[in-house]
Amino acid sequence: MALDPESLPDHPTPLLTQEAITARVADLAAQIRADYASTRDLHMVCVLKGAFVFFSDLVRALDRRVTLDFIVVSSYQKATRSSGEVRLVKDLDTGIEGRDVIIVEDIVDTGLTLTYLQEILRARGPRSLKTACLLSKPSRRKVEVPVDYVGFTIEDRFVIGYGLDYAEIYRNLPYIGVLDEG
Ligand code: IMP
Repeated sequence: MALDPESLPDHPTPLLTQEAITARVADLAAQIRADYASTRDLHMVCVLKGAFVFFSDLVRALDRRVTLDFIVVSSYQKATRSSGEVRLVKDLDTGIEGRDVIIVEDIVDTGLTLTYLQEILRARGPRSLKTACLLSKPSRRKVEVPVDYVGFTIEDRFVIGYGLDYAEIYRNLPYIGVLDEG
């Protein structure tokens, strides 16, 4: 699906409201807080750009001590389908050896991006490595990849907003909307 940026709606059809997202993020935060109750240091890794809104809400909802870092990968160009190629654009600033790490990603679609990230980060010897994704589209999976915390499981729709983009548009939309016809 390739869309003309000029004809994109300003307010796409909502799929998940702000209220639903806030409630679910609070659930995930509670689950993570419980799972890491006896862990002194928890290191949260934000996968840019798509996860930036989810990440900022999730880490603030955690209500515990954390350290943060950011990694940039790119897999999608100006299209709504993955090219299947994952590229590391900006690496973490600090090492993760011996640390308890949670990767925070916007959406797991084919699973290729997350597989790549888990592989390169696991190779650095963290004490533990888990993944939190706001959204999952299981019907699109090309590779099975473990995701420990999933916000919402959705159908095969192209979604935007709450950090997710189409051609860099819509990242600031406060809800998750759909661009395709469904
Ligand atoms: P995967 O490697 O196919 O799992 O894709 C992961 C990346 O593709 C995500 O981090 C998103 O940036 C992007 N992506 C996948 N599906 C969507 C979508 O529906 N809307 C916006 N971006 C998407």
